[in-house]
Amino acid sequence: MRTQVGIVGAGPAGLVLSHLLHLEGIESVVLEARSREYVEQRVRAGVLEQGTVDLLRDTGLADRLEREGIVHHGIEIRFDGRGHRIALTDLTGGRSIWIYGQQEVVKDLIDARLAAGAEIHFDVEDVRLEGIDSETPSLHFILGGTDRRLDCDVIAGCDGFHGVTRGSIPNGVLREYHYEFPFAWLGILATVPPSTEELIYARHDRGFALHSLRSPQLSRLYLQVAPNENLNEWPDDRIWEELRIRLAMEGWNLADGPIIEKGVAGMRSFVVEPMQYGRLFLAGDAAHIVPATGAKGLNLAVADVRVLARALATWYRTGSADLLDAYSSRCLGRVWRVQDFSAWMSSMLHRYPGDDGMQGKLQLARLEWVTSMESAARSLAENYVGLPFDDELGV
Ligand code: APR
Ligand code: PHB
Repeated sequence: MRTQVGIVGAGPAGLVLSHLLHLEGIESVVLEARSREYVEQRVRAGVLEQGTVDLLRDTGLADRLEREGIVHHGIEIRFDGRGHRIALTDLTGGRSIWIYGQQEVVKDLIDARLAAGAEIHFDVEDVRLEGIDSETPSLHFILGGTDRRLDCDVIAGCDGFHGVTRGSIPNGVLREYHYEFPFAWLGILATVPPSTEELIYARHDRGFALHSLRSPQLSRLYLQVAPNENLNEWPDDRIWEELRIRLAMEGWNLADGPIIEKGVAGMRSFVVEPMQYGRLFLAGDAAHIVPATGAKGLNLAVADVRVLARALATWYRTGSADLLDAYSSRCLGRVWRVQDFSAWMSSMLHRYPGDDGMQGKLQLARLEWVTSMESAARSLAENYVGLPFDDELGV
């Protein structure tokens, strides 16, 4: 088999890349370790930045998003039993966020790619990379019990944090930056109408809580827990009770309902530099992870492949590798800005184990500032809705 761009991973990064390349007239083949059902059902985050929505719209992927996505013009930050609205749209000259589950984005992308005749292979086993430091890289894998080989011009590593592509870069090339937060999130999906119109980020002495949603009938909520938390110790009643305590505000009630999904996810910051080696380009979670507090993971993945698709288009069209050579540094500027924002949000809202009160007081001082000074609220809002892309700034 032969293609121009071999893409490993059918998450948001790999699928958006494949779509953008198609629009540029560039062929790709996507290899995915899981089944189609699995990637379409996997519950992940659900906040799309303005720039992500614009890209999906501009490239013809937003039909269902326009119908079913919910636009939000603000978020609430709650602490000391009081709620404070951050008016995202007013503070950012008209930018917003959309609530639309990541797996819905993935479904729309797979439908669009397959309708355009794309090759996406699911349930692929044992993907290996060869020749990434040559001009003839290839992907080797097992499909339906048969050994296969895919020759490519370029390979895109879009296979997430636990994928294989990053590990195929020789030792000593990459520098890895890693920080593990001393807490995790227990997330639930519940069939109950959300008790709020806008997302609520709550700081409480017992730990952080977040009220999000997926639809008028479906709520998504999170609780800060220990990194090694045992889900068995969290029967539904206990989850609702703890959410009620941490989100409490006079005159406000949290409605509960059947929990249909429950999971614990760790919180880490991770970056590799550079995001390229030879003919292998890493994108999305394969190259970086952000703590979920800023809701940036998917958006950052889309930002990477936006840069990569343009660079590849220029390379194929003109033969110039300048943009491809600049891929890593262009992406990393945004990656570190988003890392900083996500870590800043995280440290403002979570309880730090062993805190003797100092951290808590600093958090409250920061929260008072962010919610009372317009300049501070504006900074949060600008980062939250997503900073403009380099090329929009004319850089
Ligand atoms: N071979 C083929 N596919 C693989 C392999 C492998 N060895 N390892 C992992 N994959 C697949 C995974 O099954 C997954 O479908 O790669 C895909 C990676 O997708 P994501 O993890 O969704 O990563 P990405 O596309 O970068 O999107 C980032 O996803 O992790 C969330 O919240 C995060 O929103 C962020 C977004
Ligand atoms: C979600 O809805 O899943 C969500 C929302 C906001 C976050 C993280 C996750 O910061």
